[in-house]
Amino acid sequence: MADEPLVLGIETSCDETGVGVVRGTTLLADAVASSVDEHARFGGVVPEVASRAHLEAMIPTIDRALEEAGVSARDLDGIAVTAGPGLAGALLVGVSAAKAYAYALGKPLYGVNHLASHICVDQLEHGALPEPTMALLVSGGHSSLLLSSDITSDVRPMGATIDDAAGEAFDKIARVLNLGFPGGPVIDRYAREGDPEAIAFPRGLTGPRDPAYDFSFSGLKTAVARWIEAKRAAGEEVPVRDVAASFQEAVVDVLTRKAVRACRDEGVDHLMIGGGVAANSRLRALAQERCEAAGIRLRVPRPKLCTDNGAMVAALGAEMVARGRAASSWDLSADSSLPVTDPHVPGHSHDHVHEVSKGNLYS
Ligand code: KG4
Ligand code: ZN
Repeated sequence: MADEPLVLGIETSCDETGVGVVRGTTLLADAVASSVDEHARFGGVVPEVASRAHLEAMIPTIDRALEEAGVSARDLDGIAVTAGPGLAGALLVGVSAAKAYAYALGKPLYGVNHLASHICVDQLEHGALPEPTMALLVSGGHSSLLLSSDITSDVRPMGATIDDAAGEAFDKIARVLNLGFPGGPVIDRYAREGDPEAIAFPRGLTGPRDPAYDFSFSGLKTAVARWIEAKRAAGEEVPVRDVAASFQEAVVDVLTRKAVRACRDEGVDHLMIGGGVAANSRLRALAQERCEAAGIRLRVPRPKLCTDNGAMVAALGAEMVARGRAASSWDLSADSSLPVTDPHVPGHSHDHVHEVSKGNLYS
């Protein structure tokens, strides 16, 4: 519908320069430039390399997204940008670009939360999020269970990892197995040909006295690394596919078990899974199976919308506009540890939009 807000979203929290354009809950463009290859030889994202790559990719990626969407920048109702959490320098490139475009075009600026964006993106795939929704957010930096009754204003943490994030565990085990970086997609691939029951790896924090909704993957990581070391020390070949499948099963077993339990305990009948690890094929399949058995409706965006992208930022920005949330002020800054409970960074009390409308440098 033409009266739904048209928003451009910029994402630079890690190594993907993502620019998306959405109208309401309709995806119009999703342009991504990744610097992942530049980090591969270091086995992880190098912040300075990421910042420089964002700077180089920013304007071409914005141009590409607008062209793909078939809209003019002048038609936008707002510009959204990831304000945090993420790598400080990388975030700063996105925030600066968003401010420059918003100011020059005379559009309101919305600094939004990367984590809430990972949840909101599902609106582009499955329509408006049910309220409340339980969200299992699993990425390279975060693993949390969140309960949200309104993604623009109310995100309540139920539990989180007490050590490594799920994606981090995938990346570390892939490194031990010499499979390269990022580890998630390659472990997913190897695991398809392996036996998930070959090795009984530990399920963290699943004892009767453990916190019901918190996660721990550091013990699992150590157990897998030790198992591999022992094989190597004995001069035996490491069965990479079985290790990948058994490790992956341990992760997704715990994630899905706790997510379903949280839904049941809270009487919530919709589970959403988001973040890079939600691209995992076994996580998607097991979650589907367990949700069906528990009478819970599962929503998982297509894999491309699970990993970092600009469309998710635009989706949350459009929701902010639709619900009349306050725009951010011009002194918006990147906050590398923005709490998950803050879906956006609102402005000060003065009328931001009015102030902007005076200075449309493009017209
Ligand atoms: O959300 P994301 O793109 O970036 C962060 O915000 O962290 O998530 C990246 C993480 C990486 O750890 C990557 O290994 C993992 O998501 N990942 C996967 C898969 N695809 C990406 N993990 C498991 N299976 C996958 N298919
Ligand atoms: Zn992410």
